[in-house]
Formats: sequence, structure tokens, C-alpha cells
Amino acid sequence: MHLALVCLLLLGVLEVSGAPNADEIKYLPGLSKQPSFKHYSGYFSVADNKHLHYWFVESQKDPAGSPVVLWLNGGPGCSSLDGLLTEHGPFLIQDDGATLEYNPYAWNKIANVLYLESPAGVGFSYSDDQKYTTNDTEVATNNYLALKEFFRLFPEFSKNEFFLTGESYGGIYIPTLAEIVMEDSSINLQGIAVGNGLSSYELNDNSLVYFAYYHGLLGTSLWNDLQTFCCKDGACNFYDNQDVNCSTSLYAVQNIVYNSGLNMYNLYAPCAGGIYAKKSRKKYLSDTFLQQFNLVDIFIHEHNERVVNLPTVYC
Ligand SMILES: *[C@@H]1O[C@H](CO)[C@@H](O)[C@H](O)[C@H]1NC(C)=O
Ligand SMILES: *[C@@H]1O[C@H](CO)[C@@H](O)[C@H](O)[C@H]1NC(C)=O
Repeated sequence: MHLALVCLLLLGVLEVSGAPNADEIKYLPGLSKQPSFKHYSGYFSVADNKHLHYWFVESQKDPAGSPVVLWLNGGPGCSSLDGLLTEHGPFLIQDDGATLEYNPYAWNKIANVLYLESPAGVGFSYSDDQKYTTNDTEVATNNYLALKEFFRLFPEFSKNEFFLTGESYGGIYIPTLAEIVMEDSSINLQGIAVGNGLSSYELNDNSLVYFAYYHGLLGTSLWNDLQTFCCKDGACNFYDNQDVNCSTSLYAVQNIVYNSGLNMYNLYAPCAGGIYAKKSRKKYLSDTFLQQFNLVDIFIHEHNERVVNLPTVYC
């Protein structure tokens, strides 16, 4: 009896040397046919009793010979399940919110992709002490610790080519993480990629106003106000301008860009289903269910900008 128990425990320990069996997803509801590739969901424990949820999908073609790719959606505070279930994962949530269809453009056609929900507080990721205040440095450290856990639990992938990728606030997440990973020779980092990356709020805000005006979204009257109140001697500050009238004009710009129903991620794309003022963003994400995963309590950007209880997180 005791011996059997010891053997079982030993078996449990030995299994750690391969992919963690307990994390393997054997059945996923919503699919008409279960996938031919393996996939796993579980937690990586990182610093300060934080637990980051992951969903790892193996390559559909030769997992052992395919690269490993980490994916992080932005925010800060976006769930990487956005990426998995609505962007480039193997299965996409349909408009009924219940069924999944295979994605012909899935990245795991040629790569093993690790979707990580980070930081703690996002999606299924949590902290034992329920403290969720964080900052860019701490996030990068914990993402690195999560990668170490990944390679510990999936040692068969430790020699594969490895890439760090993300979008939006990934413009912060990815380079800050790469700085740490580059110092670790046990990880075969080959490259990084960021789509639609945010690297500076100042550049972002200042370029947005010109982009909106030159695409005909603002009109002459608002543009004249912006020029009058936000610009001096040929230089404009649409970022942290203290002029109250400039702020009022910028508020109007923000309403047009973010709240009027435009797809700000792809202005020229055909708008399936027409323009839904206010609802458009949910429509764009295709699933209100996913919105619940996107959350951040208090986030301190490296320039000490505080992002508190975001009503809408741009992923
Ligand atoms: C970031 O968080 C860490 C861990 O809580 C803390 O030690 C550090 O001082 C913070 N940095 C900033 C700039 O707030
Ligand atoms: C700013 O706006 C206020 C209220 O609309 C207005 O009374 C004031 O004249 C404006 N300031 C300038 C410099 O035009």
C-alpha cells in the first residue's frame, strides 16, 4: 500500500521531465472535431505568489522542429486569449459565442505558440494576496520567470528557436522582456516582433491627431481650434498640453477616434455589419465574453504614468 503510493509519487515526479500531463487539454467544447495537435493550459508560478495562466498550442507540423513563439497582447491589461481566440490562434470564437472554427491562418501551422495571460489580474492569472498593482519592470521580470517555468515544464522545447512577439502595449512588454532573455544563454532567442506597437505615449498622441486630420476625421473647425490652442511657434503638443481649451479640443478628437464607431485599428477595412457607435469595439472583438478577461487595476508605466481601472483596454 505504502510502496504503491511512493511509486505513484515517484511517477508523478518523473513526469515533470516531459510536457505536464495534467495540463493537457483532452477535450475542448465548441469544436466539431478535436484538434490533431496537442495543447495545454495551466499556470506558471512566478514571483510573490503570482500565478500566470498559459495556453500552449503545439505546431500542427513537426512540433519538435518548429520554433517556439511567445505571444502577448497589449493593454496594459489585455488577455492574450484575445490573440488566441480572435486573432491568430488555431480556433476562433464565432459570433454565437459558443462555437469555435479552425483558423486557416493560425500561427501554430508552423510554430509552437505560447499564449500567456500577463500580468497577474488579467484573465485567469491571479495573485495569492490579491494585490495587482504593478509596473513595467515587474511585469518583464515575471514574464521572464514564466518563460523559465515553461522551459522547466516543457524541457523538450528548450533547444528550439525562440521568438518573443506581441502587439500594442507589447511595444513595451516585448523589448523589456527581451532585454532580460538576451542575458540568459539557456534560451535560444532568435528574434522579436511587435505589431502596432506602442513605444511612447507622446509619439502616439502627437501622431494620432495628424493621422485623424489627414484622414478627414476631424474637419476644419476642430483642426483650427487644435492649431490655436495646442500649437505655438509652429510646434504642437497634443500629448500633455496644460491649456484647458487645448484639452477640450483633444477630448473631441478622442471621442471621434475612440468612441464614434470607427475601427481605429484598420480605418480602410470594410466594416462588416455597418458602424455601431459605442458597440463597435465589442463587435470588433467579436465576443463580449473576452472583454471580461481584459483588466488591470493599477499599472505604472516606466515614465510613472498611472493607468487606473481602465474602463476600456485597447488590446
Ligand atoms: C516596480 O515594482 C517593484 C516590485 O513591486 C518595485 O520594487 C519597484 O520599486 C517598482 N518600480 C517603480 C518604478 O514603481
Ligand atoms: C477658451 O474657452 C473658453 C470657454 O469656451 C473661452 O471663454 C475662452 O475665451 C477660450 N480661450 C481662448 C484663449 O480663446
